[in-house]
Amino acid sequence: MEKTLVLVKPDAFKAHHTGDIIKIYEQNGLSLLAMRMMKMTPEVAAKHYAEHIGRPYYAELETFMTSGPIVAMVLAGEGAIQKVRDLNGKTDPKEAAEGTIRKLYAASKGENAVHASDSPESAAREIHIFFNETEIFD
Ligand code: PPS
Repeated sequence: MEKTLVLVKPDAFKAHHTGDIIKIYEQNGLSLLAMRMMKMTPEVAAKHYAEHIGRPYYAELETFMTSGPIVAMVLAGEGAIQKVRDLNGKTDPKEAAEGTIRKLYAASKGENAVHASDSPESAAREIHIFFNETEIFD
């Protein structure tokens, strides 16, 4: 079973969409292996978004991701990485397909409701920023 890291971002958390988002994943055959509510610090943001440091939007991304609580989770299932990205929809909600989480709940490319790992390498790296092995129930 493949694992992936998902973050419910501050916009979706604040708008009370966390439960609906988790329901979409579970109804599509994904299993929760770990979950934590937390506030991202600038240090964690820099680790998680390391490849984006220096990009024009990084300051905005850091300010947004540290602005309020997030919910971090590990989801598992067959093809979980691609499945979650398909359920999330494109980064920019204007381009996201009908019925996707970003089409339903996101306002802009920056404030876009959810994050998900984009490859097995990213998933392995990102999962261990938020969870240690004893917190993952697989
Ligand atoms: S890229 O260049 O393809 O890697 O970028 P992309 O996948 O589109 O976006 C990567 C993450 O950066 C966030 N992002 C932004 N945040 C704030 N402002 C602007 N303009 C902006 N553009 C992109 C975007 O939400 C992605 O976050 P994650 O958490 O990876 O979905």
